[in-house]
Parts: sequence; structure tokens; C-alpha cells
Amino acid sequence: MTPSNTDAPTMTVNKQDFLDLDKQDPLANFRHEFELAEGLIYLNGNSLGVLPKAAKARMADVISREWGQGLIRSWNTHNWITLPQRIGAKLAGIIGAKDHEVIVCDSTSVNLFKLAAAAMKLRPGRCKIVTEPGNFPTDLYILNGVKNFIGHDIEIVTVPSSEVMQHIDQDTALVCLTHVHYKSGTMLDMKGITQAAHDQGAIMMWDLSHSTGAVPLQLNDAKADLAVGCGYKYLNGGPGAPAFLYVAEEHLKTLEQPLTGWFGHANAFAMSDDFEAAPGIEKTLCGTTPVLGASALEVGVDIMAKVDPQQLRDKSLALSEYFIRLMEPLCETYGFELATPKDQSIRGSQVSYTHPQGYAIIQALIAQDIIGDFRAPNILRFGFAPLYVRFIDLWNTVDALQRIMQSNSWDQAQFRAKNKVT
Ligand SMILES: Cc1ncc(COP(=O)(O)O)c(C=O)c1O
Repeated sequence: MTPSNTDAPTMTVNKQDFLDLDKQDPLANFRHEFELAEGLIYLNGNSLGVLPKAAKARMADVISREWGQGLIRSWNTHNWITLPQRIGAKLAGIIGAKDHEVIVCDSTSVNLFKLAAAAMKLRPGRCKIVTEPGNFPTDLYILNGVKNFIGHDIEIVTVPSSEVMQHIDQDTALVCLTHVHYKSGTMLDMKGITQAAHDQGAIMMWDLSHSTGAVPLQLNDAKADLAVGCGYKYLNGGPGAPAFLYVAEEHLKTLEQPLTGWFGHANAFAMSDDFEAAPGIEKTLCGTTPVLGASALEVGVDIMAKVDPQQLRDKSLALSEYFIRLMEPLCETYGFELATPKDQSIRGSQVSYTHPQGYAIIQALIAQDIIGDFRAPNILRFGFAPLYVRFIDLWNTVDALQRIMQSNSWDQAQFRAKNKVT
């Protein structure tokens, strides 16, 4: 299914070929598990995934039966209390970790803070955190927050990801990188960079927000120490879904995190004045689980757990490769510049272009029910969630974009007016 980097002459070019690709798609049936309006093309699953149909029934049940009737009893009778571990264990299978190394809680930002601070404690006497400029803003802000909070001689070293390995040294406590970059879609070498961090005795933390459910992951095989990630993107957990975090088994015993709330206590309902951390991954919890959000997320995770990771990767690459090929004439004529690697081995599941009028162009597409998004200053992003994006969607998107560019229909005040959320 996937065109390789070098087989341009055999590239399919007509609409029927894309319809045929959908017929051959082994993942095609997953689309029926999601609520997608007729005629909508959704290329924004890298930002907010779509609604799993089963989530509607699940939410109705959680709200009416578990909350409405069960009330406080449901913490026990419906096992609300172990939701974070239960969903974490399911996620573990998706990210190549052990069941007891993953837990669902808080937001990605909060989890970054807890684990970055914990990493500094795991490496006392070391003063550097290595990351990349242009990392997702919250990652940089949180790392700075950790630095300011610790307050003594911590240095944040930001170097391009291609040079990270050379800048990790014996003073480095933590290397913190996003595995698939949110703007460019570049996928980093998880195993190689983790090894380079370990060679210098540093802790490696990965932000998997744009990887989980988008590319195959093997955290244990890569020997990753720590990781965090989003629930609301490719996992289709719903707006503001709880995030997850991973702590490698070898660190579970010694890891200390700063947000020592009662859900992280070894025996929360002993109601003791003194904090005693839970022995396992539960020590990373802070407060009460958002039960409704976690219940919706579980539905998305259950769907993803059924997917063959290789089929996911094959389709993801086929989608991005065909899209890049279809876009080539528009790049030449209208000045779009590919901002995503052409090399498939380092590409996640999105394709981005720069264009000076990117914002208005994306708005003009959205007006036609083709939803991508824009990231300042000039990036148009198209995310390919392999469970519900079809090949024909690529054809129709590029066809619409061609007409928007040819007619200059993007050039209208309504499309230039910036919304709060882009
Ligand atoms: C790479 C990355 N990290 C972190 C976040 C922020 O996560 P949250 O808002 O859940 O804290 C995002 C959000 O899009 C992201 O793309």
C-alpha cells in the first residue's frame, strides 16, 4: 500500500485509484467505530481526535447509572478508584511498556512537571536539562518552571534535535524531547537518543503526545526512563481527556515526585497527616481522578488496543506519502513548502507546509468542511489518523485546496480574522 520514497513513476494519480486504495485498506472498518458527519474530512486528529460511537453509550451509562444511581458507592462498586491504573495498563500495550509502568492522570503539562522534577531528584548534583528550541511550548515552559522552582544553578540547554546527542554530558540530569514534533511531524530516534542520554548517565523523558496511537512505540525496548502523553489526540479520548505518564520499572521504587497529593499515598483512606508514597506507579497520582473524562478515554484506548501497530504505521505512511505527492504541483504553483521530512523513516503521522497566507487558507478549507489546522507563524498542519482518514479524503482535500488557490477564495476578511484558538 505504501509508495516508497523512490517509486514516483508508479504513483497513482486519479480519483479512482484513491477509492481503490480505500477498498484494499485493512483498517477501513475502524472508521465505522467513529462519529463522522457525512461530507466532513477530518485531518485534525493530531489535535483533537473524533468521537468514538461507543463513548456516547459509555458516557450515558457512567452518568446515569454509575454517577446518577451509584453515587459515592461507585468508587468501589464500579472501580472508579482503579481507573487510572486500569486504563494505564491498557495503554501500556500500545506504547510497549509493562502494565504497572503506565497510569492515566492529570494533563500532559502537569505530568511533565511531576516527572521532570522527579528526574532532577534522581540525578542529584547534575545541573543541566537538555531539550530543543521549538519544542511544544508547554514542554519548554514547564522545564523552565522546574528550573525556577528548584532555584539553584539549573541550566536549560536548548539545541536542535539533530545536535542533542553531542550536548548531553556528565552534568546532564535530564534530556526531554517530543518524539514526533508538533509542527514538522519529524520523528526522532527514540532508541539512539535514549542510549546517548544513558551513556552520560542522564534520564531520558519522551513526550509522546503526537506518537501514541499514531506510530508504533516500544518504550521498554528503547529503555526510555520516563514519558508523558495526551489522551485527546490519536487516542480519541475527548476534549481535555486526562493524559498519561510512564515510569520505567527500575525507577519506580526510588522516584519521588513533588505533587504528593492523597491519591499518591500508600493508603489514602487511612487519612494520615503524614505522606507515605505508594510503592508503585500510583505514587505519581495527585488528586481525584476525573471519572467522566477517564471513562471516555478508556473507550478510545480500547479501540486503539485492537489495532495492529504495523498496519497502523503502513497506512499512516501511505496517507502521508500520497498526500505529499498530490501536493507537489501546488507547491510549485502556489508556494507551499513542505515542512515535514520526505524520509518516511523519520516522519510521524502528519504533514505540514509553510505558506505566508497559511491561516486564511486553512480557514477557507474549514469553510468547506475540510478540517486541518494552523500553527503560528505560518504552518498548515494535516494530521492523518489512520483509523478514520480515507485515501479519498486526500484526493478531495488537495482538489479543494487547488480550487481555493486558483480562485484566491482564501483572500477574504472572514478567513483572515484570527480566532482565539487556531
Ligand atoms: C507535544 C505536546 N505536549 C504537550 C501538550 C499539552 O498538553 P496539555 O494541554 O494536555 O497539558 C501538547 C498539546 O497539544 C502537545 O502537542
